[in-house]
Amino acid sequence: MIRFFGHILTSLGSKVLIALSGLALAGFVVFHMLGNLQVFQGQEALNSYAALLREMPMALWSVRLTLLAIVALHIGLSVRLAVHNQRARPVRYVARHYRHASVASRTMALTGSLLLLFIVFHLLHLTAGVVDPAAHNRLDVRGHRDVFGNIVHAFQNPVLVLIYLIGQAVLGLHLSHALSSSLQALGMGHPMLDRLFRGAGPLIAILGVVGNTAIVLAIAFGLVHT
Ligand code: HEM
Repeated sequence: MIRFFGHILTSLGSKVLIALSGLALAGFVVFHMLGNLQVFQGQEALNSYAALLREMPMALWSVRLTLLAIVALHIGLSVRLAVHNQRARPVRYVARHYRHASVASRTMALTGSLLLLFIVFHLLHLTAGVVDPAAHNRLDVRGHRDVFGNIVHAFQNPVLVLIYLIGQAVLGLHLSHALSSSLQALGMGHPMLDRLFRGAGPLIAILGVVGNTAIVLAIAFGLVHT
């Protein structure tokens, strides 16, 4: 009996922690997108914003390390819960019936793994500058790192445009289900909150994806340029 409740508690505890860490990461995605939308205000606005963040190294590294810890916790607990659920199934399903499950909910492990790949590529590209070091190290007339020029240069390349658009599609799928189920896990099954949260997930996901996609496409089609 104690083992049974122990199992329920750890499984429930994991779900709540996955939900909280997922919500924190979604908050970062929205905040990051709002910052990046300054690309529409031009080079000076975006580069000054990027320079401001770098002028506060303690705060920047605190946020980076916190994000890294949250990502590790989120992935670790999600994998553990998935393995646990798989083992808890007495008999493997012969045929899966997905009548009520959305594409997003059925592909969480796949979209989560692809999203991780996209983030690693994105960090190597725009934070570490490994993909295009020459563009990454350029400075603007005020001596700030030219983040605006770097992004514009990147999205003039169709291969990078494609990678980022696929990244946004994967992000949208993952977030739309993740946000709804996280909010529902925290809503503790209240029917009215459940309905509200089911709609809120896709809405926030769409806002995030539309904002990011607008940046990529505006540059790709020459609406934003150096
Ligand atoms: C079109 C979409 C995006 C654009 C234009 C973009 C742009 C950028 C740029 C320019 C940087 C480097 C900032 C700097 O060095 O000052 C950066 C860093 C970063 N981006 Fe993005 N990003 C996009 C989407 C995303 C998404 C979808 C995620 C996560 C799911 C993400 C996560 C990050 C992270 C974690 C960093 C590192 C922040 C740091 O310096 O500590 N980005 N991004």
